[in-house]
Amino acid sequence: MPKPDMIRRISASCAIAMALVGAASPATARPADPAAPVLRTPPMGWDPWNAFRTVVDEAKILRNAEQLNTLGLSALGYRYVIIDDGWWVKRRQDGSIQVRTTMFPSADLGGGRTSLRPFVDRVHAMGLKAGIYTDIGRNACSQAWDPDSPNLPAGSVREREIGSFDHQPGDARQFFGEWGFDYIKIDACGLADFAPDAKAVQAGQYRAFGPWVVRDQPAASRVDRVAALYAAFGRAARSAAAAAGRPDPAISICVWGEADVADWAHQYSELWRTSPDIRPTWASMLKNFDTAASRAAFAGPGNWNDPDMLEVGNGEFDRDHLVEARSHMSLWAMLAAPLIISTDLTKAPRAIIDILGNRDVIAIDQDRAGNQATVLDRRGDGQVLVRTLDMPNTKAVALINRGNRPLTMTFDVRDGHFAAEGAVARDVWTGAAVPVSQGRVQVALAPRETRLLRISGQPLDPGTVFVQEIPARISVRDTGFKPADRSLSRPWVPVRIGALPDGSPVRVGEQSDATAVGMAPQSRISIALDGRFRRFQAEPWGGKLRDFRVLVDGRPVALGGRASRAGVDVDVSSAARLDLIAPRMVNPGRGYAWSRARLIS
Ligand code: GLA
Repeated sequence: MPKPDMIRRISASCAIAMALVGAASPATARPADPAAPVLRTPPMGWDPWNAFRTVVDEAKILRNAEQLNTLGLSALGYRYVIIDDGWWVKRRQDGSIQVRTTMFPSADLGGGRTSLRPFVDRVHAMGLKAGIYTDIGRNACSQAWDPDSPNLPAGSVREREIGSFDHQPGDARQFFGEWGFDYIKIDACGLADFAPDAKAVQAGQYRAFGPWVVRDQPAASRVDRVAALYAAFGRAARSAAAAAGRPDPAISICVWGEADVADWAHQYSELWRTSPDIRPTWASMLKNFDTAASRAAFAGPGNWNDPDMLEVGNGEFDRDHLVEARSHMSLWAMLAAPLIISTDLTKAPRAIIDILGNRDVIAIDQDRAGNQATVLDRRGDGQVLVRTLDMPNTKAVALINRGNRPLTMTFDVRDGHFAAEGAVARDVWTGAAVPVSQGRVQVALAPRETRLLRISGQPLDPGTVFVQEIPARISVRDTGFKPADRSLSRPWVPVRIGALPDGSPVRVGEQSDATAVGMAPQSRISIALDGRFRRFQAEPWGGKLRDFRVLVDGRPVALGGRASRAGVDVDVSSAARLDLIAPRMVNPGRGYAWSRARLIS
């Protein structure tokens, strides 16, 4: 069952187009939304993992939480304080989890009883929200990856099974009922790293499991079982919170992009990791960025791609690498990625705090329309991203130098669907005006520099919005065919903006079409129209016109009638929803596209 937010998301995103196509200001355009999704904008907060791994304690966490307040970061939106791995000591016979009181002294209630409620109360008293961590299998990541940690679960094999497998309702009651957490990160090493041949399993330390997740091999993973487990946890979490009179918790799925998680997780969670763990290196940051950047069609209010926590302040993003740190922050903001700080804020220098706390960059990340940026161009080390904002005729544009040499880049505002005349650009980091000459912006970029611009102007073609500009309106209903040899290193993205599912360009004549919506065979998307548009036009690509299908408010449209060789032109006046379905035929390794897919108002 899809979570109720799927339905809410459609109505929530309906307001978006009003700002885009109408004259009304965003403030007057959006009706009150009583069923606002959990995490209408991406979560912001702090998690200890990148700074401390399992060597962390309550005092360190609370000092960092205090810093969120003292440094003014919570006022900018950084509100979730999330516990990561290491907080548990064992699972008791009665099924409850005993908290590690050496790590969380306040959890010691005496007489062997433990509770994270005092910790959560402290966090809440600071005006912040609290997040907890678990694993969807029997065991946790530290048990597989940090064998020398001083903070591993203790006791018998069964007592060390602190993951939620077979314990979902009880754990959910503990986390959201008794303890009052607002957010949960649910890891998956228990499904991946305890196979019968794992060393620790062979040594008798842990019970064998699966594996249900085989890293880098979605086809070898038990995708349905993994998804069903997360779906069940989501239900247990929501019902435990409801029973305690608390709002739905935010759910963060951490399967590192494996088991096709980024294709299905939007049904059961607010955010999902699209990649392995980030490390504090430029290469790792870019790799994680790419995994989320290809998935704009899956994000929107209440649903966010998660390329992992911020490394700003750490390693190649520390005080000696402010160019890289600003790029990292800019890219996460363009992706509408969760902004989870994971550096020690008690030690972070001012320059790093200023980057994390840049109001204008945060405003892009938190933009209410929830359109993730789409990739407009990638040539060599240069990459261009564009994100439609909730302000009429305004977009954020990132010009990225991924390489280690200086690079001059030019952006033609017409490629962002602005008229050449009258477009104005501002540098988001400095606030300075950036000259637009004959519709072009030219910037000289240092190695690894990103120029983040806010551009406004008149639309190039008033009354026309490309679907590519408003990905928050897309809901992926069916991901269709999947090649058996897909892997994380060669990602197959069933619905990909500006490219085919395998990442190759949609060529129209000599050009590649950045506005195309690439679709896997048999895949299906819905586009929320909210009665705002008159016509849908597109050129089906890669197959015969008669094999593509279009539904308007659920009713099939005969494409033959109004279609010409140039494409389809469908009446969508006063329709709420448009469904686009790709042909059934599997054309090996490629997929189909709706080229120049656009809505006319
Ligand atoms: C996994 C996750 C990390 C972190 C560790 C904890 O690797 O991806 O973000 O939570 O587990 O062990």
